[in-house]
Amino acid sequence: MKLWGGRFAPGAGGQAQRFTASIGFDRRLYQEDIAGSQAHARMLAAQGIITPVEAGSIIDALDEIGQEIGSGQFTFALEDEDIHMNVERRLLEKLGSVGGKLHTARSRNDQVALDMHMFVRNGAAEVVRRITALQSALVDRATVYQDAVMPGCTHLQAAQPVLLAHHLLAYFHMLERDRGRFLECRARANLSPLGACALAGTSFPIAPELVAKELGFDGVYANSIDAVSDRDFVIEFISAAALVMVHLSRLAEELVLWSSQPWAWVELSDAYSTGSSIMPQKKNPDTAELIRGKTGRVVGHLMAMLMVMKGLPLAYNSDMQEDKEGLFDAVDTVNGCLETMAGIVGSLAFNRERALAAAAKGHTTATELADYLVRQGVPFREAHAVVGRLVRLALSRGVELDGLSLADLQGASSCFGPEALQLLDPVAATGAKTSPGGTAPANVARALAVARRVLSER
Ligand code: ARG
Repeated sequence: MKLWGGRFAPGAGGQAQRFTASIGFDRRLYQEDIAGSQAHARMLAAQGIITPVEAGSIIDALDEIGQEIGSGQFTFALEDEDIHMNVERRLLEKLGSVGGKLHTARSRNDQVALDMHMFVRNGAAEVVRRITALQSALVDRATVYQDAVMPGCTHLQAAQPVLLAHHLLAYFHMLERDRGRFLECRARANLSPLGACALAGTSFPIAPELVAKELGFDGVYANSIDAVSDRDFVIEFISAAALVMVHLSRLAEELVLWSSQPWAWVELSDAYSTGSSIMPQKKNPDTAELIRGKTGRVVGHLMAMLMVMKGLPLAYNSDMQEDKEGLFDAVDTVNGCLETMAGIVGSLAFNRERALAAAAKGHTTATELADYLVRQGVPFREAHAVVGRLVRLALSRGVELDGLSLADLQGASSCFGPEALQLLDPVAATGAKTSPGGTAPANVARALAVARRVLSER
């Protein structure tokens, strides 16, 4: 008989039972569920709702059940629907009617919310650790290749030379914001919903703050209806997960491009590449491609969860059982992708020569010439037009800007002096970008030092 079977005809179940059961996936919450139940039992005893002896036997039996599940000896029953009732069924088997006292002043509605809060808390903490590991790998590569120059792009067209380290540090800062989002998500999720019961609270003299304290929460929900209706913390987690995946996907896309033959600025280590079943020469950046691909599923989980919640009347609805698989998959996918990306980045080999050669192509120092004219007193808009004509001249001759002579430059503007020719070197161009946050080597060295200090203080 079901734990809730009193008002039902015997034998109801079958296909609908398979359809509604969540034990296939929510067994993953067993540790949170058992810890939450133990804290609840302690609180019930502290408040004189059950005796200390009863609480003691419940807590011990829950420990045993946790071990049974952890060691794979536990037999989960579909008839018991979910992790909460599977654990409670086993408790009843072990303790008889004393086991039936645990669910006093509690509902599965606040119980499952409690489990999910604990799961999100732990999940966020793990993601934060893995973000730091990837940031360390980025800083490491930026340090090893600190002087390497590459073409920075806009519209994927060569724009201006930048330091590779500067480009890698851009990802460091994106990840720093991601880390902040997970920490904030964790902080906001750190409220205990237990004590809301089904939705209205209870007539028993419970002390929800005792449970909250024991489980490391910062406090309890102020409103029992909100406590069991809220899945904002799940959506916030998946949202932060979707955004960090978008960042990983952009980096993955760049690595896929940069490792392709027309670029060949970078080579992924063999450990993070695979071959072709037909073409013996192939070395494919599968790991980066899969990170890019897996971004779709995490973004999908975010959309799914927003849609699940958008039409729900307060308080609990079974729709909310749909929060679990997407969250679990988001946690696993983000952690797997962060770990893999840290491995890819940490073992990247950059080809400085090819990157520098690319930076010297595409007239990437045209802005330097325009800025030079501005320093001679030419208004920027005029300088832009003058250099535009020089680019056109170079294009017509099939050369880069440094293939033009001083006479060519002076033919376009009498303000050019011989020192203008030195500005066409891509390395010199990066050195000139000394504005705050710019790519000049001294700036980048300072930014790297700051990043290293930030990481070492974690
Ligand atoms: N398995 C359910 C879930 O995941 C637990 C809560 C069920 N509550 C209820 N009143 N049916 O949401």
